[in-house]
Amino acid sequence: MKVQVCIIGGGPSGLLLSQLLHLKGIATVVLEKHTREHVLSRIRAGVLEHGFAALMREAQCGERMDREGEIHHGFFIAHGGGRMDRVDLHRYSGGNSVMVYGQTELTRDLYDGREKSGAPTVFEAADVALHDLTSDRPFVTCRRNGEALRVDCDYVVGADGFHGVSRKSIPAGVLREYERVYPFGWLGVLSRTKPVSPELIYASHERGFALCSLRSQVLSRYYIQVPLSDRVEDWTDAAFWEELRRRLPAEVAARLVTGASIEKSIAPLRSYVAEPMRHGRLFLAGDAAHIVPPTGARGLNSAASDIYYLYHAMLAHYQHGDDAGLDLYSQKALARVWKAQRFSWWMTTTLHRFPANSPYEDKLQATELAYLFSSERALGALAENYVGLPF
Ligand code: FAD
Ligand code: DHB
Repeated sequence: MKVQVCIIGGGPSGLLLSQLLHLKGIATVVLEKHTREHVLSRIRAGVLEHGFAALMREAQCGERMDREGEIHHGFFIAHGGGRMDRVDLHRYSGGNSVMVYGQTELTRDLYDGREKSGAPTVFEAADVALHDLTSDRPFVTCRRNGEALRVDCDYVVGADGFHGVSRKSIPAGVLREYERVYPFGWLGVLSRTKPVSPELIYASHERGFALCSLRSQVLSRYYIQVPLSDRVEDWTDAAFWEELRRRLPAEVAARLVTGASIEKSIAPLRSYVAEPMRHGRLFLAGDAAHIVPPTGARGLNSAASDIYYLYHAMLAHYQHGDDAGLDLYSQKALARVWKAQRFSWWMTTTLHRFPANSPYEDKLQATELAYLFSSERALGALAENYVGLPF
């Protein structure tokens, strides 16, 4: 098979880039390790920046998102033993907002879009390997149903997530890695219940962080901070609801509607960046190059900014023979990635309980939130980062 751009990974990053390029007549293929059903069974992000929503529309996959997604103009932070303060995103970001729409639905829309437009996907691509990346004729090999497949291309895009092969194809001497691992994870539950609040609630509590989110007015998504040693099997639904209630202000806990979990999983929290994001004719995008702890809802949104830069760089190359965007991709993408890293680190350290903190550090943490809600400038800094910095 011969294409212009071979994209490894059929998650949101790879699918979005492929769809955008396909609509401009640039030939791509997506090689995905799993089945479509498997990819669509993962419950992950729920909050999209307005810039991401705009890219979905440009990819002609935004119709259902605009119909079923919810525009949120603010969220709450519960702190200080029972206080609930609202962050008015619209006011403090100069009129912006976020879209609440599940990653699962967005991925489904991208798969449906590419099926309609006839863009090819190879599912269950096993043993994907990248070759000759520093030559001008790179190629990718894999196996499908036991048969060997070779894809010749101009460029390879590694959009295969944190555990993919693409980043590992960059020689160790070239790649520089930056990492922080947090001493806890998030236990998440999805339930077919009415959300406890029409807007998200991030709760900082002495028992640990909690988050009340939603997918729709009949589908709720909740998270609680748990030690890394906990396993999902340790948590019955009843134990989860009881712990969540204890971390919420009393009047919120009183109106919490509980029900059977339809998904329950634990995600460890980690910050990670790999530099550079380009090696020869390989470009990394999304979780393949960087991950953030989920607190600031930046992960998927950082992937979208990579795709924005890469899409425009590839358009300039194929339409005008201009390679400046490709040459600057790593530098430009990383500048924004690091801002998302900073914000995610700040949200995480401000809202979680760190078991090793001294009483002094706990006081500083409480003061951070007290200061936030006493300063319009501090709220402005939070709001502009949460709705998404400009691309
Ligand atoms: P992925 O979604 O990981 O997709 C990579 C794809 O590549 C997968 O389909 C995988 O099967 C495939 N693949 C892997 N290896 C190979 C291989 N060898 N060959 C071929 N294919 C391969 N982000 C936000 O912005 N907002 C949020 O609210 C938010 N909440 C989150 C909550 C949780 C609990 C978690 C875990 C994450 C959250 N995120 C959030 C982060 C977000 O989900 C990720 O940043 C996003 O999935 C990245 O997309 P991606 O396409 O780069 O990678
Ligand atoms: C969700 C996840 C997040 O990490 C976040 O900050 C907000 C919402 C969610 O899954 O709904």
